[in-house]
Amino acid sequence: MIESENVEALLAQLSTDIWTSRKYRSLDLPLETLRDLLEQELTKGRSGNAALQAVREKLHNIVAPYLGDPDYPAAAFMLDKAVQSGDSETIKAACHEIMATHASTKERIPWLETFYPQLWSVTGTPGSVLDLACGLHPFGLPWMGLPLETQYHAYDLHTPRIELISHFLQLLGRAPLAIVQDILVSPPKVQADVALFFKEAHRFEQRQKGCNRPFFEALNVRWLLVSLPAADLSGHHSMIDRQRSLMDSILTGLDWPVQELLIGNELVFCIRKI
Ligand SMILES: C[S@@+](CC[C@H](N)C(=O)[O-])C[C@H]1O[C@@H](n2cnc3c(N)ncnc32)[C@H](O)[C@@H]1O
Repeated sequence: MIESENVEALLAQLSTDIWTSRKYRSLDLPLETLRDLLEQELTKGRSGNAALQAVREKLHNIVAPYLGDPDYPAAAFMLDKAVQSGDSETIKAACHEIMATHASTKERIPWLETFYPQLWSVTGTPGSVLDLACGLHPFGLPWMGLPLETQYHAYDLHTPRIELISHFLQLLGRAPLAIVQDILVSPPKVQADVALFFKEAHRFEQRQKGCNRPFFEALNVRWLLVSLPAADLSGHHSMIDRQRSLMDSILTGLDWPVQELLIGNELVFCIRKI
């Protein structure tokens, strides 16, 4: 049993530390994330400084600043100019440049032309999408072939990323459905045709072992597409068997058909939920 006074005092200390630190202060991370991480550590029996230290280590892995970031104001300016030009190739070039600043999207760039047709050949072209833990993935929209009416909901806990995505959606004439939300603490309730959960399920397991299954169950979607890296960042070691056994352990006993796609370095599990 953890005492709520103790949690509140530690949470106040943690949030002041995080929100004023050079590393995190511009990110405006949700309080619900800090509270959840702290409560997890206290439940494990850690107290005081040991709990705070464990939360900082977890946060480093969740936010993953080492994967890269664009210069956000410069990226917004570049998008303004590109969209003003009215030239689709200029818009794609700006999106390329932004996606190349983060390891997850950078890896996908060589496969963009074929990536989405393969996904939609399984799910059908969606009328609504949830992009969960989206990172910079919404800058792939010019390759997705989705009509303007398609509702594109993007979620991340990194505020500058979400603000840039929201700006981009508006420039494209789309509804600005980009939201700062911790999707593990508060899984989106929005009904959608397809949810994309790319390159994050293995990190979710590190954050909280066993959390993926209840998270998948909570989503109100027909299709859940979960991708995991097929090889390590060096590209030398296959991770396919490891990722299959992770997905097997998450989905065991659930009556959801799964179809696999291997596209570039991404193994996509297409899960038919409903
Ligand atoms: C490895 S990147 C993957 C980005 C994107 N899905 C892709 O494949 O291009 C992980 C992203 O998930 C976000 N993230 C991690 N945990 C999250 C959570 N619980 N709720 C919302 N976003 C989260 C991080 O801020 C980061 O932008």
